[in-house]
Amino acid sequence: MNDKICTLTFDNSAEQAKLFSQVLNINCELVHSRKFPDEEILLSIPPALPEHVVMFRSLHQPNDKIIEILLAAKTARKHNAKRITLIAPYLCYMRQDIENKPGEAISQQIIGELFANTFDDVITVDSHLHRIDHLDQAIPIENAINIMATDPMSDFLEKQCPNTIIFGPDGESEQWVSEIAENIGGEFAVAQKVRRGDKSVKIEIPDKDFNGKDITIVDDMASTGRTIALATQLLKQAGAKSVNALVTHALFMGDAKNHMIKNGVENIWSTDTISDPSNKIQLHKLLADSFKTIL
Ligand code: R5P
Repeated sequence: MNDKICTLTFDNSAEQAKLFSQVLNINCELVHSRKFPDEEILLSIPPALPEHVVMFRSLHQPNDKIIEILLAAKTARKHNAKRITLIAPYLCYMRQDIENKPGEAISQQIIGELFANTFDDVITVDSHLHRIDHLDQAIPIENAINIMATDPMSDFLEKQCPNTIIFGPDGESEQWVSEIAENIGGEFAVAQKVRRGDKSVKIEIPDKDFNGKDITIVDDMASTGRTIALATQLLKQAGAKSVNALVTHALFMGDAKNHMIKNGVENIWSTDTISDPSNKIQLHKLLADSFKTIL
């Protein structure tokens, strides 16, 4: 057992954090948190810590979780932690990267600075970086690492549906779909998307022969599921034989899954960055490999 590093995790990420810690042969302990009647948080960490602490937590539905990781990190510093690495398999607030209307908060920068001021390193997976190339442009620290889940996704698809066309529902997804298609030696296609509202998107699929083809839509996340649902509808209209969906982050808010299925998605698959019954691909080894590179 390496007792120079330990993992602190929270209920929602405990399973994945334990697997990650097993790979590294380090202790994994739980942070306890409860709410007072007025919703303030009382949090406690195990007080005997090594100098290097990994805080492992996925940050979907993030608002309480951000407060909790801040409380936990500051408390860890008081109890011996000199270096704290945040491993957030899903990293929140990375999508709002410009001021669309005057007065809008650019949350990517604001939350990014908060993380930079709190943690020494940040590691995440398939972060939604649209107008920037590297995570350290959002989180200005040396080790701000955004790893891609494309290799394990490719392994999964190769076994599950080797002859599928990999389909990206918008321009941003090209980085993932092109890589996966190359890995599995398959074809890919990318649509153009305009978002009109939280639950409203307009998609134009490329001029390609989808008739009779098996298609897998791959995206970094599905939130309301509207993007994948509409892409599926259009692919079906174009004659697709089957449409499956594979996402890194299973946000799946509200009726997302039903909506996708109603619109023709046959299977919904995801990685385990967010715990969900659709999880088919485990990423703890990938995260552990990335963590080793910063030691
Ligand atoms: C944004 O462009 C992302 O890559 C996803 O396509 C988007 O977040 C999906 O959102 P929804 O499921 O709400 O359409």
